[in-house]
Amino acid sequence: MLILGIESSCDETAAAIVEDGRRQLSSVIASQVEEHRIYGGVVPEIASRRHMEAISGVVEEALRQASITPDRLDAVAVTYAPGLIGALLVGVNFAKGFSLSQNLPLVPVHHLRSHVAANYLAHPDLKPPFLALIASGGHSHIVLLKDYTDYKIIGRTRDDAAGEAFDKAARAMGLPYPGGVFIDRLAAEGDPKAFSLPRPKVEGSPYDFSFSGLKTAVINLLHNARQTGTELNTADLAASFQGTVSEILTDHLMRAAEEYNCKTIVAAGGVSANSGLRRALTEACQQSGRTLYCPPLSLCGDNAAMVAAQGYYEYLAGVRGDSSLNGYPTRSVELG
Ligand code: KG4
Ligand code: ZN
Repeated sequence: MLILGIESSCDETAAAIVEDGRRQLSSVIASQVEEHRIYGGVVPEIASRRHMEAISGVVEEALRQASITPDRLDAVAVTYAPGLIGALLVGVNFAKGFSLSQNLPLVPVHHLRSHVAANYLAHPDLKPPFLALIASGGHSHIVLLKDYTDYKIIGRTRDDAAGEAFDKAARAMGLPYPGGVFIDRLAAEGDPKAFSLPRPKVEGSPYDFSFSGLKTAVINLLHNARQTGTELNTADLAASFQGTVSEILTDHLMRAAEEYNCKTIVAAGGVSANSGLRRALTEACQQSGRTLYCPPLSLCGDNAAMVAAQGYYEYLAGVRGDSSLNGYPTRSVELG
């Protein structure tokens, strides 16, 4: 079964063709990151405009690279939530028009579910049930998947998402947007034990996260150093911050794995590209005899192959959209 996936929830316009949810025939991504970088973050209005300009060409290119004509497709899957509403609507409306004109079923896909599905493209043996950590720019969730479309949230952030904390800490350090990747690079030259940073816990909710205090601690250290004219080693600070975030995510995930008796662990979302987090997860899974799956770096960030992959399983579960399909800036991953 051939599915065209479309993604436009944030600052990447993407289209891809995937066969049976597992085999990527093409994947095209038009990134706007350079343009948003001058503003230090994504400007929603600019994002929507760039999606509108790029979407037709990106879809055409995905079909061309896969050597597929639209009549050979079996369905169109599109990210419809969560994300920037103006950005989402570009993909949703394009997908509605395309599916109507080609007489194809339309499958709405939740963005966080598609991040998990990035792993299906890289790991043919991976099947639910498993426990997943989804860490992106907007969300940090620990979820239990009983099946491809059966999600239960075990833990979530109470304030900043992990990626958001990376981006804000990076900005305070004077690093470019998106900060996570630049902290990762700088951290490679630093000592993760140089600074002792807070590890906030959420009272009564051992699997929930709170990253805003940690982010503020980094900002305060930088402000104090600036005010007192003290030299501060930002590589050490980046390494300490990355190490602390990685430990918190790994620690909560492993506790949940223990409690829910999960032997298979999956990492997903932009932050799953972080080298410190991948190291911490690999070690923890090795020590506890669990199997870890991480997406390849090329599939950690936003792309449409993961949308088509999850779209396949949503299609099999009977999920369909029609011309009334809307986009939603927030929506629980449990609802899909
Ligand atoms: O999943 P994603 O591409 O988009 C959302 O759905 O939000 O995640 C983007 C987030 C950004 O906050 C970015 O800084 C972070 O993922 N990120 C990283 C790394 N690469 C991307 N964070 C830490 N280390 C990285 N190597
Ligand atoms: Zn994403």
